[in-house]
Amino acid sequence: MPDAGSRSVPDPRPAAAAAIPAPPPDDGIVLAAARGEDADQIVKLQYLCYQSEAELYGDHSIAPLTESVAELRGILTEGGDGWRDGATLVLVARRGWEVVAAVRGRLDGDTCRVGRLVTHPRLRRRGLASRLLAEIELRCPTAARFELFTGARSADNIRLYTRCGYRETRRAVDGGIEMMFLAKPAGAPA
Ligand SMILES: CC(C)(COP(=O)(O)OP(=O)(O)OC[C@H]1O[C@@H](n2cnc3c(N)ncnc32)[C@H](O)[C@@H]1OP(=O)(O)O)[C@@H](O)C(=O)NCCC(=O)NCCS
Repeated sequence: MPDAGSRSVPDPRPAAAAAIPAPPPDDGIVLAAARGEDADQIVKLQYLCYQSEAELYGDHSIAPLTESVAELRGILTEGGDGWRDGATLVLVARRGWEVVAAVRGRLDGDTCRVGRLVTHPRLRRRGLASRLLAEIELRCPTAARFELFTGARSADNIRLYTRCGYRETRRAVDGGIEMMFLAKPAGAPA
């Protein structure tokens, strides 16, 4: 999928200051659509980040740990122009050459299914994952709703998603793990 263009991290100042041009981000982090050559870094980042989930559920065969670089490269290059049903958009947060966070969304009818949200451990709790969630919502204007899931015992993740405006819709058991699905209507506040 071609790069839909880099986007600077949003200015965190209040809306009252919106008329003043935003200064360049000072943390050097830029959000952008992933490119084929990012596949290797994204797979490694997933492998690092999802170890905690694998430990929590006692399952090291979960999909984010077993995805290959070739599989992800295929997803990144098959996208075509922009969103269409079944297409996947992968977003990354870059600092220089390094991919420090990532997320992906797949358009399924009027629902954008969001997943594989990761932030490098050394850059956590700085709002990066929240920014990526907001960005993927912004870049999928045709979706009526956004849906994601996490393990029902992943309290930290559930707190993050709730703070970003997602609400529990259902639960399902997958591979012996109880999953919680959460959704957010398009345009709903975070
Ligand atoms: C979940 C994750 C992407 C959050 O990244 P982040 O950039 O630190 O997120 P933000 O700064 O926007 O938000 C911080 C919130 O993330 C949540 N969180 C989940 N796991 C966390 C972790 N291991 N460390 C820190 N925060 C975590 C918490 O709710 C935290 O809020 P708090 O400070 O009130 O506890 C990151 O912790 C991660 O990569 N975890 C491992 C992979 C994973 O579980 N992904 C989600 C799968 S459903």
